[in-house]
Amino acid sequence: MVRVPRATPHQVMAAAGQARPADPDSPYRLLAGWVDTGRPADLAAHQRRHGPLPVPAYPGRAGPHRLIGVVDRSGLRGRGGAGFPTGRKLTAVAAGRRRPIVLANGCEGEPASRKDHVLLSVAPHLVLDGAILAAYAVGAEEAVVCLHAQDPLADTLRAAIAARSGDPVPLRVAEVPDRYVASEASALVNFLNTGDPRPTAKPPRPFERGVRGRPTLVDNVETLAHLAMVARYGPEWFRRLGGPDSPGTTLVTVTGAVRLPGVYEVPLGTSIGQVLELAGGAAEELQAVLVGGYGGSWLPLPSGGGIRLTHADLQAAGASLGVAALVVLPARGCGLAETARVLRYLAGESAAQCGPCMFGLPAIAADLTAVVEGAAGRRGGAVLDRLGGRLEVIRGRGACAHPDGAVRLASSALRVFGTDVRRHLSGRPCPWAAGGPRLPVPGDAAPGAR
Ligand SMILES: Cc1cc2nc3c(=O)[nH]c(=O)nc-3n(C[C@H](O)[C@H](O)[C@H](O)COP(=O)(O)O)c2cc1C
Ligand code: SF4
Repeated sequence: MVRVPRATPHQVMAAAGQARPADPDSPYRLLAGWVDTGRPADLAAHQRRHGPLPVPAYPGRAGPHRLIGVVDRSGLRGRGGAGFPTGRKLTAVAAGRRRPIVLANGCEGEPASRKDHVLLSVAPHLVLDGAILAAYAVGAEEAVVCLHAQDPLADTLRAAIAARSGDPVPLRVAEVPDRYVASEASALVNFLNTGDPRPTAKPPRPFERGVRGRPTLVDNVETLAHLAMVARYGPEWFRRLGGPDSPGTTLVTVTGAVRLPGVYEVPLGTSIGQVLELAGGAAEELQAVLVGGYGGSWLPLPSGGGIRLTHADLQAAGASLGVAALVVLPARGCGLAETARVLRYLAGESAAQCGPCMFGLPAIAADLTAVVEGAAGRRGGAVLDRLGGRLEVIRGRGACAHPDGAVRLASSALRVFGTDVRRHLSGRPCPWAAGGPRLPVPGDAAPGAR
């Protein structure tokens, strides 16, 4: 293990050593050997490790490209939140009648996640290879790396692009406003088309009609980095780690009450407890873990420690992998107060164009805040019923998945912190409710806030 000498809120840990990424037994595929430098690997170093772009292996554009079949067989699923099968998305984009566009989503709007930042910081060419290969596979005319405006990584990526030559598809960087919903797929498309960074109603989905009316592939930068590895080393190699429904490795951001918060690369199927051990273990007694980011779900600890990071196992436990962020709440923290704070943040990040989001999110944030503060008093039961009703009404509505994420978070908090709910409503909140915030929320002076 090596700690990266980088003064970010998240220390970065990953595998040490120079294990070849193609080593089937190495669980360190994307970050190995790079993180210890803390600098972007230049093109020469990148090609020494991975070889040149394997484009000549996939010539022509006769129907869906051969590389699409390779990605499909690898079982790669998106690492940007929804876990959608990447091969299926490539197929849908390639089926369009016009030449597609590829967007590499590196905005990482999720406050609990730092993995895309770390990946782009040390392995920009792996991501660019993935964007080019995806573009080549679907026959795209352009690939665009989307980053938040003022992100210093934009310069890193521009320098990396300038150092490359002979790519079959032009690459450029686009800077997107730094808002939570601006990095949702249709919002990226809308921004590039009109300058408005708000999500749009679907259909049409970006793969049907996206940038300049063309079929548009929107993939997370980590997904594209895995795609670049699959193209080089093959689907069987990719499947040697992880499980049948969740093959490969994933970058996990661990924050909160662990000794070594950071970004770790682990095989999918690693248990939550094992990841926390990798992050130095508990810094104090633990209570719960928020899995998947702020649109994710709480799971209790220590009982949830045995749950494996696979799509199927997490779904069975009432959670989802999301962006593979784990936020660890200590016993001396109030899960309800934390959730209420995050809900207020999420409500403030609504694009204010759909009713359930514009009115629903502030309402559920206010309801939960009332419960936390004991303000609901004798009306507590009624407030709780109203909150439950609102969560039902909001679910599945809105032009994008933003409200669904907030509902998932709130519902899981009511489930996992049920005992606390009763305490708060009976006027006996836990002593930690008024304590300092534990989860990083942008704009707050929370520990680890960026
Ligand atoms: C509110 C909201 C914000 C999102 N922000 C990001 C983001 O910052 N980065 C990202 O890769 N995906 C983000 N997504 C998911 C994208 O819409 C899209 O599903 C993803 O980029 C697809 O990539 P994948 O298939 O590789 O996961 C967001 C979704 C929502 C609903
Ligand atoms: S659901 Fe919310 S964030 Fe999504 S488009 Fe509607 S108002 Fe905007």
